[in-house]
Formats: sequence, structure tokens, C-alpha cells
Amino acid sequence: MKIFIDTAEVSELKLIAETGLVDGVTTNPSLIAKSGRKIADAIAEICALIPGPISAEAVANDYDTLLAEGRFLAKIAPNVVVKLPLTPVGLKVCKTLSDEGTPVNVTLCFSAVQALLAAKAGATYISPFIGRLDDNGFDGMELIREIRVIYDNYGFETQILAASARTANHVRDAALAGADCATLPPAVFQALYKHVLTDLGLEAFMKDWAKTGQSIL
Ligand code: E4P
Repeated sequence: MKIFIDTAEVSELKLIAETGLVDGVTTNPSLIAKSGRKIADAIAEICALIPGPISAEAVANDYDTLLAEGRFLAKIAPNVVVKLPLTPVGLKVCKTLSDEGTPVNVTLCFSAVQALLAAKAGATYISPFIGRLDDNGFDGMELIREIRVIYDNYGFETQILAASARTANHVRDAALAGADCATLPPAVFQALYKHVLTDLGLEAFMKDWAKTGQSIL
């Protein structure tokens, strides 16, 4: 499963990119606002830092302006993925940009039939928001499982990008459900390394190693 990081904070991304485990980045208007950066500057810097797909979200309500925004964002760097909302206008622009060869990430997906429409519109990625579904009493992971079945039934190549992940268990469950990618806030990425038995085991090994008085080098 590909791991994307869900942030527009370049300093955080630099540290995480050093792990060599990051396949791409997703941003959204809220994350751009939090960064305090101009979208074009932040996206250009992130695209230069991480060679994988970098999602940049367009925001207009009408077809012509949303398309123009998408084309503008796509020109920032070759690895930009234009992020569009799952609305009639968003999917119409998705179809146009996808036909032009621009990859699109359709965002704010909360149902399997929405995901079906996005695939038919040529989306490269569909972003089901598992955390926000769970927050509101729905089962986010069930949506990932449903989309997996539908896409496999019909051979859609749209990649399932599990979004709005809140915990390491969300990442595990999305991987088990066959999501192609997951996008994680930096703290959730760091949580993937953690297990209490790893920490305790390492502590015990280090204590015993000190008793040997040896050094390896
Ligand atoms: C997805 O691409 C979104 O940017 C993101 O995952 C939303 O997560 P949130 O529900 O934590 O805001």
C-alpha cells in the first residue's frame, strides 16, 4: 500500500521524507490555510521535495473556473494531482482533466456510489474519508471494502486512497480491505512505528548488551 502524508507543512514533510517511506502527499484548503503559505508556493516546494503524486485542491463552484484552477495547479509541477470535490461540477471537470492526461484525486467521498461515479469520470484516485465517517457514527472501513468490491467487479483502475485516517488501526484496516493508498497526518505516520513490546524489548536488549561490555565496531 502506498503511503501519502496529509499535510502542507514543508518542514514536517522534510523530516518524514528522510525515512524513504513516503510515496506522495495530499493537501486540502484547510491544510493550506494552516500552513499560511500561498498554494502555488507550497505545492511547488512539496513537489520538488517528494517525487511522487502531490494532490493540490481546486476550489471554484463553476465548471469553467474549476477547470481553469485545475489546469493552473497541474502546471505547477509534473507530479501535481488535481484534487476535485465529489460534486456534479467536480466530476465533470474530472472527466475533462483526465481526458487531457492530468491525474485527478476526487475528494470528499462518503458513499460507494459516489466512488462509482468518480471512477466512471476517469479519476486516478478516489478519497473516501474514513475518519469523518467514523466520527459521525458510520463505518468508514465498510466503505473501503464496498469500493474495493465495486472497482474489482468492473475492472476500474481508479486507486482507492483511504483518507481522513486517525489511527494506526485505520491504516491496518485499510490495508486489509485492499486500499491502494492511505494518506496520513504526520502523527499517524509516526504512530505506525510504535508498539509497546518493541519499546520494552529494545530496553531489555540494551540492558543485557551493556552487561557484555562489548562494542560491535
Ligand atoms: C484527504 O485528502 C484529506 O486531506 C484529509 O485526509 C482529510 O482528513 P481530516 O478528516 O482529518 O480533515
